[in-house]
Order: sequence, then C-alpha cells, then structure tokens
Amino acid sequence: MELINSELDEARQAAERSPTDQRVMGTLASLLQKNGDFEQAEQVCRRWIELVPAGPGAHAGLVSCLAQQGRLDEAIEAVQRAIEIAPDHAQFQAQLGHLLLRKNDRRSAEQAYRFAIARAPDTPTFHSALAHCLSQQGRVGEAVSSAQRAVEINPDNFHFKLQLANLLLLGGDLSGAEQAFRRAIALAPDVPAAHAGLGSCLTKQGREGEAVAAVQRAIEIAPDNAHYRNQLRALSIPDRDLYRPLFSPWLGSGEFREVYQRAAPRSLVDPTRCYVLYALAKQALHLGGEYWECGVYKGGTAAMIAEILSRYNGPQLRLFDTFAGMPETDTSRDLHKAGDFADTSLNAVRQHVGHERLVSYHEGFIPDTFGGLEGSSIAFAHVDVDIYQSVLDCCEFIFPRLMQGGFMVFDDYGFPSCPGARAAVDGFFQGTSAFPLVLSTGQAAVFKSLG
Ligand SMILES: C[S@@+](CC[C@H](N)C(=O)[O-])C[C@H]1O[C@@H](n2cnc3c(N)ncnc32)[C@H](O)[C@@H]1O
Repeated sequence: MELINSELDEARQAAERSPTDQRVMGTLASLLQKNGDFEQAEQVCRRWIELVPAGPGAHAGLVSCLAQQGRLDEAIEAVQRAIEIAPDHAQFQAQLGHLLLRKNDRRSAEQAYRFAIARAPDTPTFHSALAHCLSQQGRVGEAVSSAQRAVEINPDNFHFKLQLANLLLLGGDLSGAEQAFRRAIALAPDVPAAHAGLGSCLTKQGREGEAVAAVQRAIEIAPDNAHYRNQLRALSIPDRDLYRPLFSPWLGSGEFREVYQRAAPRSLVDPTRCYVLYALAKQALHLGGEYWECGVYKGGTAAMIAEILSRYNGPQLRLFDTFAGMPETDTSRDLHKAGDFADTSLNAVRQHVGHERLVSYHEGFIPDTFGGLEGSSIAFAHVDVDIYQSVLDCCEFIFPRLMQGGFMVFDDYGFPSCPGARAAVDGFFQGTSAFPLVLSTGQAAVFKSLG
C-alpha cells in the first residue's frame, strides 16, 4: 500500500506537469484503480478519452472503472464504443462478454466470447469464459469442450484444470473428473477447492473412505470453511443420495421402496404422493379402524395400501369405484367427463391387489355403495375421485365416521384439472374444527383431532 501511495503521488505530480501525456494518464488511471479509487480513475479516463478519442487503452480503463462501480449499462455502452473504434481487439469482446454475463444475458455474452475467440483463438481465458457461460445455460457438454480447449492451450494452469474437473463432474463423467481433479491438485496441492471437488467425485463413485480423506484435506487447508465441514458431515449420512438437496425418502427409501412397487405399474399417483399415503397409512395403523379408498381405477394405490396392511396384520381395506369409469360430472365445476378412467375392470383390480382376506370391493356409484356401512369406524381414507359431487359425498359420509387420530387424504385437491375436488373439500370443511393441510404434492390432508 505504501508503495502504491508513493507511486500515486508521483503519478499525480507527473500528470500536473504533463497533462496531455497519454502514458502518464494511463499510469495514473491504473494506479487509482489499484487503490480502489474508481471515481477518480473514471475522471482521469474520461479526460484521457477527450485527448485521444480513438485510444483503446483509455476506453478499456473507463469500462473497468464503470464495471467496478456496478454501473453495468454504462460500462456496456463504453465497451461497445471501444469495439467500434477497435473492432479487432479481442479483449474488448471478452470484456463485453463478462459484462453481459453479469447482467445474466447469457446468449449475448456467448456471442461476445465467440467473437473474441474468432479474433484470438489461442487465448485460453476466452475459452474458459465461454465454458463458464455455456455451463450457466445448462449446456454442460459444450462447456466441457471449451474448458478442454483452455486446458490444451495452457496445460499448466490450475484454474483451467479445476474448471474442467468441475464441469466433467457436472456432466457425470466421473473418471474424467477424478483425473482432472488429481491433475489440478498436482499443479496446486494447497488449494482446498480441488480436494473438496475430488471428494464429491469419489462420493459419487461410492468410494467413501477416499472421499472422506479428500474432504479432510480441504478442511486441513481451510479449517474455517463451513462448506467443506458440511460436506464431510453429509458423508456420514448413510442414505445421503436421497438428499436432493433435502431428504426425499420418496426417491426410494427402505420399506417405501418395496411397497411402492405395488403401486407404480398401475397408478396415476406419483411417488411423492404415494409417500404421503404410505406415511399416513402407517401412522393410522394403531387405531385399529377400517381403511377406505374411494377412487381405485386400476388398483395402484389400493395395492400399495393393501401391502402395508398385510405387513402389519392391519385391519380391513374397503375399495369403492364403479370399476367402469367416471359417473356423470358437473360441467360447471369439473373438467372430467362421464366415462373417463373406463379402461379397467373389477377382475383386473382384484388380481393386482391380492390379499383377498383383507380387501373388500364395493362396486358401483358412490354414495350408493356406502349404504349399509353407517356403523363403520374409519382410521384412514384415501379420497381420489377427482370430481365435485363424488368428493363431497365422500366428505359427508366418511368424516363423521373418521376416528379421532385418523386421516383423510384428498389426492386431487390442488390439481388445476380437478377444480371441483378442491371446491368440495373447502366447502365441506369450512366452519368445522378440521382445517385441510394443503401439501406441495397437490394433495390435502385432514386430521381428526380430539374435540
Ligand atoms: C383418478 S382415478 C383413481 C386413481 C387411483 N387411485 C390410482 O392409484 O391411480 C379416479 C377414480 O374415481 C372413480 N370415481 C369417481 N367418482 C366416482 C363415483 N361417484 N362412484 C364410483 N367411482 C367414482 C372413477 O371411476 C375413477 O376410477
């Protein structure tokens, strides 16, 4: 700093003595920038441009002063003027690329980098910048090629190697990435990012022990880095592949993975919603009441619930459907039509669901098929009937018979294709003690609590 201050004083005096000397102005502007005094540096650059309007150095200085002050639009205008003056100057094109990227205009930035590369094809930083820009657009394969070009031109540069390694990892080329991380480490053994990256790469290959060692090395080098510490902590979670980034057991955790296999081939209900059913169906087991499903179609979710009940010696499962498609719908409230979901049959469902001892079938129209079941105590009900009147009929019959501690899950509540389902749930529960819990899956759940 001392050195810069004395150099700055000298440059200021020189500028006073020779106010029209371009070299002196260039030195003063660059020292002011180094010193972080961007406003003064900007003024010097502007004076310099007045003196030499076509001087690329003065324009480059002004662009970088404006960019440092966050005045990106003015910086872009300035660099565009510089490009008009010196169209073959590749560095201006690259500078324009950096500025456009900062403004998230990735397509235009890419174009600018490509212009820079066309003018100076052997400048590795241009290829590296293009790689960064392409990866930001999700074009990982192309980004890898650009990063590879930068490495080819300058094989001894650590940053290019690390960039290539990270991109290979992102693209899923784990052995290529590992090799690149190791080469980067050979070039700069004390940079923690490369060890941490190698750790991620080894983790993805299932080589936990080596991964731990690599991340520990990153922590040794940068003990205060919270990211590396978290990375090491995450390595001790046995099912960490289910963190995306949060724990997502519906991707295939333990017992759920097995029981979901019963639903998957014959259900419209995706794994996240099936997981909600699985968790609440298990939670209601201790109540000892009946399980109901209204809306069975091909028997996907029914088979999953039956499987859960059979594993835990659970109670009876009652399944309600026409098994021949939707009844008449209310076109002012519903988007579904009579006859939707007709490509099924009771026999096919019975064969798929199995567990005959546990399951009973109520074929026909809801609520007619509820007749005779007024004395039921229901622990869990999955309501997946999609249309206003059917959902409302389910609410009216089931909720008064739902046991304390029991659940109703409405599959279609939040789906724009089923506006009637939401209207029925909202209308029915308004003014009751229950309040539907709307889930990000599209479902809504109602809990029967005490009182
Ligand atoms: C979306 S499907 C059920 C999907 C099923 N849970 C699964 O795992 O894919 C809706 C079902 O509700 C049935 N349904 C709707 N209203 C009904 C009613 N009033 N009576 C009987 N079945 C009805 C239809 O026949 C259809 O099979």
